[in-house]
Amino acid sequence: MDTGTHLNGRVDRAALAALRKREEAAFAARTPKSRAWLEAARASMPNGVPVAWMAGLYRHNSIVAGGGAGAFFRDIDGNRYCDFNVCDLAMTMGYGPPPIVEAVSRAVANGAHFLLAVEDTRAVTEELARRVGLPAWQFTLSASAANTEVMRIARFMTGRTKILIFDGQYHGHIEESLVTQRGNETVPIQLGLSARTAKESIIVPFNDLAAAEAALKAHEIALVITEPALTNCLLVEPKPGFIEGLGALARQYGALLCLDEAHTFQFEYGGMAGSRKLDCDFVTLGKGLGTGVSFALYGMTRAIADVMEKHLDSDIGLDIGSKGLATGGTTYGSAIAVAAAKAALEQVLTPENYARVDSLGKTLAEGLETVFRKHGLDWRAFHLGPRSGYCLKPDFPTNAEEASESMDIEMIDARRVFMANREVWDAVVSAGPQVSFAHSAEDIARYVSLADAFLAEIVR
Ligand SMILES: Cc1ncc(COP(=O)(O)O)c(C=O)c1O
Repeated sequence: MDTGTHLNGRVDRAALAALRKREEAAFAARTPKSRAWLEAARASMPNGVPVAWMAGLYRHNSIVAGGGAGAFFRDIDGNRYCDFNVCDLAMTMGYGPPPIVEAVSRAVANGAHFLLAVEDTRAVTEELARRVGLPAWQFTLSASAANTEVMRIARFMTGRTKILIFDGQYHGHIEESLVTQRGNETVPIQLGLSARTAKESIIVPFNDLAAAEAALKAHEIALVITEPALTNCLLVEPKPGFIEGLGALARQYGALLCLDEAHTFQFEYGGMAGSRKLDCDFVTLGKGLGTGVSFALYGMTRAIADVMEKHLDSDIGLDIGSKGLATGGTTYGSAIAVAAAKAALEQVLTPENYARVDSLGKTLAEGLETVFRKHGLDWRAFHLGPRSGYCLKPDFPTNAEEASESMDIEMIDARRVFMANREVWDAVVSAGPQVSFAHSAEDIARYVSLADAFLAEIVR
């Protein structure tokens, strides 16, 4: 590991610890109502939150949201935050974006859901087909559920059970991907998961086609699933030809390929599959396309759509032995989801707006690199469209192991709370600051100047 200017070099650990203690105390002093609310809420919710996960995202105390507008939200103590986490990309359109508010309000008033298609559903699926390059689409409520259905379809079509995933991945809270490698075994990374299901997954390093081929050679793999760039271990971009090579290998060894674009769809127009013309069998989109409305989608080839049609699961089927594919849910594909998706695609996720956030992302990355140089650090700033972040080394990582060298939890968490005390809500540890469609150039400048102030206190 490099011992030059990165992690263990120029960062003064004592100064970092002192800063963190000071900032956590200041944050606690600014958020008494949130603390009291969360404490009282523990009577009716574990950890005082509706999803226990929310309480585990940061080390500093959590807060209670009071509302938001554009790039900012406020807590119930009245503190304001310019949001660079944007709900880990579920809110990349900002708070209360007029086109989404208008479309979803109309849909709610007109009937939120019918367990039927509505006329606008086709506008969404046809537009996604045009942008992404896969002709057929299905809705779910979350990207986790979309990936689950993709795995089931792939298992049925190939008659195999194993899933090939990449170190550093996150594909949702599903048994097959909440796993890690321990020796020769793939084991669950959290409690309550099936050790037997974990064994169905094979993990290889990202950007390593030889390792992927070695795994595929046994002809046991149903599905290869990856993000086109890993976004859940900071950022790892694909080497030229890596994703294309995976597609070729999957075809050669009889597996299907899914590109999980739950995040990257918001980085490039049409997602990376669409903008880079990447060949694959499935694409997963998630996080309500950044609208904050709960829905996700997956796209598929015509051949897969034909299989779905042929193997429709029918509730009025008489023959139990001929039940169809296990997909669907009673709240999937609602009129609200359709309204949000249509408004998002037509009015927010436009080529002009993608170009704008790409340019702001570039400004953010360049601003951070200028700050790093000013402090004599040979760090780099990630830049993939609106995503930036801190690479604590002179070279960008090519796999998760290299990326982990930039994941300095102490520093990230201290930076979060330092920024929170100064009206900026930074990204969760595995991500990086994300430019949203609601951010302005002033917001970016504010983030960069706070990064500068933070480093000034801890770099020696
Ligand atoms: C690449 C990727 N896939 C899937 C998911 C799961 O999304 P959801 O929380 O909507 O199920 C995430 C969430 O962060 C993700 O980053």
